[in-house]
Amino acid sequence: MIKIRKLKFAYPENKLVFNGLDFQYEKNQKVGIVGPNGSGKTTLFYLIMGLLKPQEGEIEIFNKIRKTEKDFEDVRRKIGFLFQNPDHQLFCPTVAEDIAFGPLNLGKTHKEAREIVKKTSNLLGLEKYIDRVSYRLSWGEKRLVCLATVIAMNPEILLLDEPTAGLDERSTHKVVDYLKHNDHSFIIASHDMNFLKTLTDEIYLLNGGKII
Ligand SMILES: Nc1ncnc2c1ncn2[C@@H]1O[C@H](COP(=O)(O)OP(=O)(O)OP(=O)(O)O)[C@@H](O)[C@H]1O
Ligand SMILES: [Mg+2]
Repeated sequence: MIKIRKLKFAYPENKLVFNGLDFQYEKNQKVGIVGPNGSGKTTLFYLIMGLLKPQEGEIEIFNKIRKTEKDFEDVRRKIGFLFQNPDHQLFCPTVAEDIAFGPLNLGKTHKEAREIVKKTSNLLGLEKYIDRVSYRLSWGEKRLVCLATVIAMNPEILLLDEPTAGLDERSTHKVVDYLKHNDHSFIIASHDMNFLKTLTDEIYLLNGGKII
């Protein structure tokens, strides 16, 4: 589903983050990515989502080479990305509107979107939050709402950037429970090895610009 070949990427005026990265992700895989701070986990997700463009190399997603903004619009409809920082994900006045935003954008009616908000908030135990103002939630509450906004789009693959960072035990358990009991394909970047061991079949190490 995702094939990355010989990827080179550097931020402007910075050293190379990736210098010939190869990575392959197949259908139904449950994959974890670990790596030290600054090793490029978030950058890799941004490149897959087309939020950054590589200087060299090839990104093939769903059997198509992706280069232009238009190529990535299609990717963003099918791959759900949980940002590491929830303030990059939430921008509507209320939680319900944030969760409904993606489905409405995909062409769902308001009635369908309301059903999706209800179902998704139930799945993550967020019912009592749906009328709250998104930016006034705590960090952990925001992160669960962000996960709801991603799941609401019914993506084919989830890319989750540190989904449990800043979550207490109960909220972490909610995330584990949801991912365990729902049939998702996913790539999770995390520093929480126990969390990854519980959920994934394979764990890759990203270090020195390469995946091991
Ligand atoms: N916008 C930016 N401009 C310049 N350099 C950046 C930018 N964002 C990240 N970097 C640099 O790119 C490298 C990779 O960063 P990235 O955020 O992908 O790492 P990470 O593995 O996700 O780290 P963490 O575990 O802390 O989340 C780091 O050296 C970082 O300083
Ligand atoms: Mg990161």
